[in-house]
Amino acid sequence: MNMREKIQTAAARYPDQRSAIMPALLIAQKEHGHLPGPVLEEIADILDVERIWVYELATFYTLFHTEPVGMFHLQLCDNVSCMLRGAEDLLEHLEVVLGIKKGDTTPDGLFTLTTVECLGACEVAPVMQVGDDYHGDLNIARIDALLDRLRAVVGQATGAGIAAVAPPGE
Ligand code: FES
Repeated sequence: MNMREKIQTAAARYPDQRSAIMPALLIAQKEHGHLPGPVLEEIADILDVERIWVYELATFYTLFHTEPVGMFHLQLCDNVSCMLRGAEDLLEHLEVVLGIKKGDTTPDGLFTLTTVECLGACEVAPVMQVGDDYHGDLNIARIDALLDRLRAVVGQATGAGIAAVAPPGE
């Protein structure tokens, strides 16, 4: 099924097409990795809804990306529980070892670093989401080990080039 068909299938479950915008955005982001303007317009056309409604949701929620993100999107929670358990130090460490600031992507396109509000996993704070996976009880050693594992994934794939690594969402 192509993106249009997937969105139409999802939209059939909703009596109001406006309610299908969120699932349509998730489908499109899995397909494209992020949500540039033309994709948002295509979603509006498929659902036959106002374009502004699609833009509003795509730019409101942090889980949607209107700009390209790295192969690994590091989303560190900096809300209260995680902050009390060292998230600020982890952010500082990530900025140093990756050589970027919060909100940026490494020049090799591997990592994008952002902070997010509570990920709903406070019991294992501090927490970072990478793609669809959560990593909890983090400390600097675990962060370093995680980055090594992620780089190794790319390293294993580079026998055939970085493009061999599955794009976001797959
Ligand atoms: S405050 Fe970080 S997961 Fe809840």
